Amino acid sequence: MVNVAVLGFGTVGSGVAEVLTGHEGSIERKADGLIRLKYILDVREFPDSPFADLFVKDFSVVENDPEVDIVVETIGGATVALDFTRRALEAGKSVVTSNKELVATKGYELTQLAKSKGVCYLFEASVGGGIPIIRPLSQCLAANEILEIYGILNGTTNYILTRMIRAGLTFEAALAEAQEKGYAERDPSADVEGHDACRKICILAAIAFGRHIYPEQVPTQGIDGVTLADVDYTESAGKKIKLLGRAIRREDGRVCAYVAPHLVDQSSPLAGVEDVFNAISVRGDAIGDVMFYGRGAGKLPTASAVVADVIDVARNMGHRKALSWEPGGEDAVCGMDALASRWYVRAKATAEALRAALPGCKLLARRESGGGECACLTEGELTQEELERHLAGLEQSSALRVLD
Ligand code: HSE
Repeated sequence: MVNVAVLGFGTVGSGVAEVLTGHEGSIERKADGLIRLKYILDVREFPDSPFADLFVKDFSVVENDPEVDIVVETIGGATVALDFTRRALEAGKSVVTSNKELVATKGYELTQLAKSKGVCYLFEASVGGGIPIIRPLSQCLAANEILEIYGILNGTTNYILTRMIRAGLTFEAALAEAQEKGYAERDPSADVEGHDACRKICILAAIAFGRHIYPEQVPTQGIDGVTLADVDYTESAGKKIKLLGRAIRREDGRVCAYVAPHLVDQSSPLAGVEDVFNAISVRGDAIGDVMFYGRGAGKLPTASAVVADVIDVARNMGHRKALSWEPGGEDAVCGMDALASRWYVRAKATAEALRAALPGCKLLARRESGGGECACLTEGELTQEELERHLAGLEQSSALRVLD
């Protein structure tokens, strides 16, 4: 029998308890033995929970119990969660987590610690919620040189953009709706400013390209500047706005990673990814393009990925090979200077002024024109610096890359 302790009884932790106990029979078959939920650690009281007798408040109870084989960390953040994860691994317990902040900032250290202790540190649920992506990337696509990964990595912002596009809600109204539905992080800035997607692209890049990429090395722009005017203009160009995380491996081995809203063509598979769904596209030299799609957030989808990791550890007790990568550093990443693309530009300018600044650009129309603004798509590809040179002297309101 394998014993599990769940740290944190929030949305994901309670989902893990529900799935582990609700599917006990089929999990036992798949894990070749019983997986027992022994403890739930939380500082709060849950007297009415069906798991009420499993609650503990002191982590040392879990740490010092030799029967506990697997610790599920769903506390979130990188303070208490880091301390408990280190202590659990030091105590020879495998750790499974959905905590993308911790993996993105301390993943190198924690995978090394797990390796040195002969245990696992697994985090399938940290990217894409319920979508299997970490294991496919590290195992099923292992024969490939990965060239690029990009995708919709945040369910909340995808929900907000979908509601702006389909229902004409303002950003603020759509965010309030996402919060009501429980999709947004406690602090919605992690979602809307792009930090959550940034952490996820860091994790994917580490696995795909073999070196730790830190969130502070990744230029990150969220969707808080996207307006209904942008939605209208892009629709008239047959495109949709999507927040993408992207990591590209250069020929010299360095990685160019960033997060920003992009215009994608309405015929692109990414345009059909709506609401809280995520989609991740991986380009490998042997396989070409492969896309992973599913529910990127929510209690049970995320619990599904966590419990799959628990089953994997239980099935391979003492044998599973650790996931790991090389340390990061300044030489692991490259700047965005060389990354050229077509651009969508909205500016407080006349059509003539915009055409003069960006010769050959395609002017866009919107239902409610006005406010002295115009928008266009550039004709050719430009780097950000080239675009800014062209627009010098114009009052620019928005500039978004087009994913061609
Ligand atoms: N807030 C995150 C999202 C949760 O909306 O994608 C899943 O990581």
